[in-house]
Amino acid sequence: MALKPSEGELALLYGQDVLSAKTLTYEQLQLIMKTAAYYEDALVNKRRLFDMEGKIAAILFFEPSTRTRLSFETAMHRLGGSVVTVSETPQMQTSSTAKGETLYDAIQVIDGYVDVIVVRSPMTGAGQESADAADHPVINAGDGTGQHPSQALLDIYTILKEHGRIEGLKVAVLGDLKYGRAPHSLVYLLRHYGCDLIFVSPPQLKMPEEITAELCSQGIKVEETSDLKAAAAEADVLYVTRVQRERFPSKEEYESVKDSYIVTDEVVAVARKGMSILHPLPRVNEIAVSVDSYPGAAYFRQAHNGVPIRMALLALTTGNVR
Ligand code: NCD
Repeated sequence: MALKPSEGELALLYGQDVLSAKTLTYEQLQLIMKTAAYYEDALVNKRRLFDMEGKIAAILFFEPSTRTRLSFETAMHRLGGSVVTVSETPQMQTSSTAKGETLYDAIQVIDGYVDVIVVRSPMTGAGQESADAADHPVINAGDGTGQHPSQALLDIYTILKEHGRIEGLKVAVLGDLKYGRAPHSLVYLLRHYGCDLIFVSPPQLKMPEEITAELCSQGIKVEETSDLKAAAAEADVLYVTRVQRERFPSKEEYESVKDSYIVTDEVVAVARKGMSILHPLPRVNEIAVSVDSYPGAAYFRQAHNGVPIRMALLALTTGNVR
């Protein structure tokens, strides 16, 4: 049975914002994994939880979402709490954003209604701007091309569950490494575990130089390639990402790279034995549907791991792990 973290451990995230994977410490990371396992145990054994009874989370999504929004809401309900939600896109605004209200003003108001704020926005830096306007903890659920820390945390949790460890693994990160906030966050967490990284992308979609340089300066082994099959032959984990159509300056640029990589049965046939395949989803066509039946295809299990991870984040930041 998974153990509840100690009071000393719980203090590590109490009252904190979770804005970037870059600033999470290894101790905080361990605490989140431990708390998620504790909550997963409760979910599997159908224990009803009341850790956040009487508490409200604001779930503010200014960009499309299925998994992130619904798993945050599910997490809050599973903890006995409740949610108020804004779910809109720049094309279909339903909040006072449509009247020209700034995010900063909106957050100052909403902060007075709730106990914790979860925010997704197309604007890089929106998590920080929200945190500046709020007294309660803010969790960044994706800010433009910036960061997506709760995704990276559930990715780490998934690798731990699938492989039993992360230390010593070789992780290949494939696809849109330029605009993808999920890979930007994941690599910052992976650096704590001493694994080797392979970045696989077309030259136009390489990992931003400042991220690669920072990892290398910290002694992480990073290889950059455009050869998917060669990377799959070596990797223990293949992390696939979608080409982020909505971030491209022009349709033509997107069209020129959109089908750069597709993980097919042929790729799986040359993959390292026991390789797991992860994807933050949604999938467009980066992974052939026939690959879903491969035992290492972990992406739907991965999506389900979002609930215990987000339960942990909500309860830890607000000091409600009971
Ligand atoms: C990711 C995102 O929004 O950055 N999706 C998610 O949260 N699971 C990845 C993506 O949209 O490609």
